Amino acid sequence: MKNFTSVYDVQQIDALVKKALAYKAAPFKDKSLGAGKRIGLLFLNPSMRTRLSTQIAAQNLGMEPIVFNVGQEGWALEFEDEAIMSGSTVEHVKDAAPIMGNYFDILAIRTFPSLKNREDDYSELYIKQFIKYAGIPVVSLESATLHPLQSLTDIITINESLNASPIPSGKKPKIVLTWAPHVKALPQCVANSFAQWVNAWGKADFVITHPEDYELHEQFTKGATITHNQDEALKDADFVYVKNWSTFNDYGKIYCNDPEWMLTNKKLAATNNAKVMHCLPVRRNVELSDEILDGPNSIVTQEASNRIWAAQAVLSEILESKK
Ligand code: CP
Repeated sequence: MKNFTSVYDVQQIDALVKKALAYKAAPFKDKSLGAGKRIGLLFLNPSMRTRLSTQIAAQNLGMEPIVFNVGQEGWALEFEDEAIMSGSTVEHVKDAAPIMGNYFDILAIRTFPSLKNREDDYSELYIKQFIKYAGIPVVSLESATLHPLQSLTDIITINESLNASPIPSGKKPKIVLTWAPHVKALPQCVANSFAQWVNAWGKADFVITHPEDYELHEQFTKGATITHNQDEALKDADFVYVKNWSTFNDYGKIYCNDPEWMLTNKKLAATNNAKVMHCLPVRRNVELSDEILDGPNSIVTQEASNRIWAAQAVLSEILESKK
């Protein structure tokens, strides 16, 4: 693996899942793989799980992680080639990235979208510029349109759950991605990425449900059944993935924010005793009810814990291919 920015950087999802679960069983089995190597974790935006789990994953492999909160503590970066830098940006990525390429062996970056200009966000300029100029492998810690470490974690967690409680033979698990209300306009990254990975994994009956006007781009959702009827979608679901996202077409807006879309035990009753997932952080009693989050069907803590093993599997793949 050279870089990790989407599911298309993965040769075999099942093999990567197996590798992650092997690390969960024996976290330090490859503790010398990354010895003498450094990973730079660049955060242009806030994080808890991604920041901590990726540091732990790197350390489990013997790497030294260095966190740089670029968004708060670094020089404001310019990403446009040939920019006349007479505004607020201080340093061009063309100058900064090669230096990081000398300091580190792997560079990992979190860069959220602006949600102001769809064309700019969906061009993934920021992460592409780091790949272009750093000269070392680049890992996405969530980019403008995707969150691949989260999605790999989600597939790992679904596999782990299916290994513990298999679906009766011949039946694919029904996985439902449902939109949920929120107080802020959020990126489409987690939903796009989850859809991309579940479709590429190809082992589920996959349904996406959201109110009108919240369509995601077809490049991610193609292969899924899409419905505006949440009750119908939830029927017989084995997994329900809850997430808010803002509008894609009239970009970055909140249209309908109907609280009826929040998952409750009453809605969950229509499912096949579904496991409930969310990437976190979650707005309690806005996006997801207390009764679901504190109830027996929620696997959000297990899911967040699995972030370590997803990151460790990815870093291990990159280190092995650099040998
Ligand atoms: N799910 C996730 O990426 O969490 P953080 O934003 O806390 O890293």
